[in-house]
Amino acid sequence: EKILFVTSEMRDFIKAGGLGDVSAALPRVLAHEHDVRVLIPGYRAVLEAGTRMKKVGATRKHGELPACEIGELETDDGLHVLVVCNEVLFNREGSPYVNAKGIGWPDNDLRFATLSSVAADIAAGRAGLEWRPDLLHLNDWTCALAACFLHWRHQSTPSVLTIHNLAYQGIFPASAVSRIGVPEHAPELDFHGQVSYLRGGIAKADFLITVSESYAQQIVDPVHGCGMDRLLARRRHEGRLVGILNGIDPSWRPQQDDALDTPFSVGEWERRQYNTVALREELGLYPVPGPLFIFVSRMVHQKGLDLVYEAAPQIIAAGGQLAMIGRGDPLFERMATTLAKRYPGRIVARIGFEEGLAHRMFAGGDFLLMPSRYEPCGLSQMYAQAYGCLPIAHATGGLIDTIEDGVSGLLFQHARVSDLRSCLQRAFRIFAEPLLLEAMRGAAMLERHDWSRSGQRYTGIYRQLCTHEAAA
Ligand code: ADP
Ligand code: GLC
Repeated sequence: EKILFVTSEMRDFIKAGGLGDVSAALPRVLAHEHDVRVLIPGYRAVLEAGTRMKKVGATRKHGELPACEIGELETDDGLHVLVVCNEVLFNREGSPYVNAKGIGWPDNDLRFATLSSVAADIAAGRAGLEWRPDLLHLNDWTCALAACFLHWRHQSTPSVLTIHNLAYQGIFPASAVSRIGVPEHAPELDFHGQVSYLRGGIAKADFLITVSESYAQQIVDPVHGCGMDRLLARRRHEGRLVGILNGIDPSWRPQQDDALDTPFSVGEWERRQYNTVALREELGLYPVPGPLFIFVSRMVHQKGLDLVYEAAPQIIAAGGQLAMIGRGDPLFERMATTLAKRYPGRIVARIGFEEGLAHRMFAGGDFLLMPSRYEPCGLSQMYAQAYGCLPIAHATGGLIDTIEDGVSGLLFQHARVSDLRSCLQRAFRIFAEPLLLEAMRGAAMLERHDWSRSGQRYTGIYRQLCTHEAAA
C-alpha cells in the first residue's frame, strides 16, 4: 500500500509537542511494511533543513486556496518527505501554529485548508507526481479537512484520521468557508454556527484513531468530548473509532544518549545518580539529599501546572526540589517563574524548548509531575519511565494505559490538588526506601513502549480499508 502521512509537525524539522515525535517515529515504522511518504508544510525550518529538496510537482489554485509547489526530500535514513511550498503561507519563522506572542497566525484557516487540499490533490493524481497514494493518513485538525475535500470532490481514496488532541479543533468563523472553497452547504463542518475543521474530519474520514484506548473511551462522553461526543459515539458504534497507543522513539535510550555525560542501564543506580548531581549543578539547584521532581511540558491549562504551583510548598517543606521546563500560555509561564523566584536554589523554571535538557531532566529527575487534566496519550511519562524517572500522574487517557500505579509510577484519581498532595506523600515514602525505589525504577525502565504492536495495528487498518476500496 502507498500511504501519504499528512502532518503539521515532524521532529526532524520542527516540533511543538508530541505530534512532532509521532510524525517522526510512526512513518518510519510503517515504512517497513508500506510505501510511505510524509506530507508537511514548507515552513522555514523545513526549507532550511539542509537536506536537498527537488521540485516534483505543483498544484493549481482552488478558489482562494493558492497554487503550491511540491518539493521532495529524503532524510538521512531514507524516508521520503513531500513538502508543500508556498512562500506566503508557510515560509515564516517560529511555531507552526502561533506567532511570537503566542497568538494563532491570522491566516491559519487558509494555511491548513491549503495543506488539506494539496493532500487531496495528490490523492487525485492532480499534483504532477508520479507517485499516487492508496490511502491518506491524516493527523489532527490541521489536515482533517482533507477527508472533506475527498468527499466534496468525489474522490474514493480512503482516509484515516488520528486524533492526537480533541481540544484543538481548528474553529473559524463561518465566513471562512467561502474563502477555502467549501460547498455552500457543508453541515459536516458546522460547530454551533462556526466551522470546525476537526469536526469535518471526524464526520468524513473512513476511520478514526485516538492515541490511547482510554482516551477513545473517554471522548464519547460529554466530559471529554469537546462538544463532539455524540458524533464520536456514533462513529465508535459503527466500529470506526479505536484507540492505538503511541510508542516512543527507540533512539531515546539512557544507555546511549549524546545529551548525557553518564549514560546508564537498569540497575546502574550510581551512574544514574551522577546524572542527578549534574542536573542540579546545571540548573543551579542546591545539592540536597531529597527527591528532585521535574515538570517537562507545554505550559497550558491541559497540563495542570496550577496544581503543581499549589503543591510546590509541600515539596519544598518536605525537603524536595522542583525543576520545570516548558513554554506556552503566559499565565502558566508566570506561575513557574514566580515559584522559582520564591524558592531560589530549590525551584527552577526554564521557559523554552530544549530537547537536550529535557533528556537530562528525565535522566536526573526522581519523579516526573504530570497532573494533566486530560491526556490523549502523553509521551513525557514514557520517556521518563525509560530513563528511570517515576511519573506521578492523573489517572486519565493514555496515562492510565502506560503507568501501573505503585509499580512503574503513581496515579491519582482526580485532577485536584488534594489528590496530588497524597500522591506526593507516597512519593516521599518511596524515596525513603531505596530498595523499593530501585525496584520501581527498574520496572519503569523495563516497560516496553516501542511501536511494534501499534504499528501492526495501523497496518491492519490500512489493509482493511485498501482492500475494501479495491473491492468496491
Ligand atoms: P503534548 O503533545 O500534549 O505536548 P506529549 O507528552 O505527548 O504532550 O509530548 C510532549 C513532547 O514534547 C515530549 O517529547 C516532551 O518531552 C517534549 N517537551 C515538552 N516540552 C518541552 C520543552 N520545554 N523542552 C523540551 N521538550 C519538551
Ligand atoms: C497531543 C496530546 C498528547 C499526545 C500527543 C501525540 O499533543 O496532547 O497526549 O501524546 O498528541 O499523540
